[in-house]
Amino acid sequence: MASQLAPERTEDVGTTRVPALFTPLTLRGVTLKNRIVISPMQQYAAGRDGLPLDYHVAHYGRLAMGGAGLVLTEALCTSHQGRLTYSDLGSWDDACIEPLARIVSNVREQGATPGAQILHAGRKASVQRPWDGFEPLSETDLAERNEAPWETIGPSALPANPGWPVPREMSQADIDAALTEHAEAARKCREAGFDVLDIHAAHGYLIHTFLSPISNQRTDKYGGSLENRMRFALKVAQAVRAEWPKDKPLFYRISCIDDEPGGWTLDESIVLARELGEQGVDVMDCSSRGLGLRGTPVVVPREQGFQVPFAERLKQETDLATMAVGLIMDAEYAEAVVAEGRADLVAIGREALNNPNWPVHAADTLMGDAAYEGVWQPRYGWWLSKRAKSLEAARREQSGK
Ligand SMILES: Cc1cc2nc3c(=O)[nH]c(=O)nc-3n(C[C@H](O)[C@H](O)[C@H](O)COP(=O)(O)O)c2cc1C
Repeated sequence: MASQLAPERTEDVGTTRVPALFTPLTLRGVTLKNRIVISPMQQYAAGRDGLPLDYHVAHYGRLAMGGAGLVLTEALCTSHQGRLTYSDLGSWDDACIEPLARIVSNVREQGATPGAQILHAGRKASVQRPWDGFEPLSETDLAERNEAPWETIGPSALPANPGWPVPREMSQADIDAALTEHAEAARKCREAGFDVLDIHAAHGYLIHTFLSPISNQRTDKYGGSLENRMRFALKVAQAVRAEWPKDKPLFYRISCIDDEPGGWTLDESIVLARELGEQGVDVMDCSSRGLGLRGTPVVVPREQGFQVPFAERLKQETDLATMAVGLIMDAEYAEAVVAEGRADLVAIGREALNNPNWPVHAADTLMGDAAYEGVWQPRYGWWLSKRAKSLEAARREQSGK
């Protein structure tokens, strides 16, 4: 059955068959040159204004040079209140459009498709940078770094972790404002020229907390039944879609399971994905967990591709494309995920920080020297091909063959 779902299109580079991982994927009017995506990764490198710096332009350009088809930015926070830290990138001000456009043009110039992610951190906002502790901001941070904590919001007045600040339960006016902020963020990403937009509704941030019955204990039309808990998530998709061009794909990142008793389930994710498809979402970006409760025992064991089964199930049960993410490290494994039709795209996170050339190295592994011609950009590939031949000749000489 899996082979029926495998990508149909393959091309040859010389006499070498192009692996499924390096076949293009067209979503609406956008063609990704291959199936490798750089997963959104916050850098906590911005100033208080949330504007991208030269660092971000270089960082995303470097990732694009590594050969990924799609480079997604880190989460662009939709409001001051929706930031995690004082160093997050923001999409709350039109001033972000010009520097974001510099990221777009650099990523595109290096051969990848530029995408952005948008986020409201909800009750997980107002925390320290990871290297400052990653704990909620307190009066100590105000004294030491002039970083005052701010009020967080959520569907219910329930903290993410014991001892964390209790968020304010959102009123209808807060919900309306959050919808407008997501739509406005989409407009700015459109004006900056991104080709893909990913809505972050995973990892315990605002939208996720509406979905999960653990964090959403409202008794109004946004809480209780699955239909009610999905209402905010669907309204965000609708508001964003209205601002996002019809010829550009919309991705939606969810935590497919909470992995906690009484939490959000995979079956609910399938219902949500179908409804999101009705709102014009094209790709389900399949992550998991993160609602809170640090230290909760992990039920799904951590191993290569541990979240791929979620992408596979959503792909089987809906009409949407899927993206798998999470500990995808080996080229052969990533190739099998796409070739077997388990996901349409694979996203690489920490592996790309470790090795920004992961995509072109994956091509080396899967295609041998043909990768220099077909996948590496010529300024590197031409020389590396010569280098490979010289090394091979030297090896033969040494071994006397
Ligand atoms: C430094 C860092 C920052 C991250 N920031 C984001 C983010 O902004 N948005 C998001 O959806 N996920 C974020 N993630 C999660 C990654 O996108 C990815 O899902 C996760 O790291 C698992 O993939 P990996 O095993 O390939 O790293 C972050 C991960 C890391 C390591």
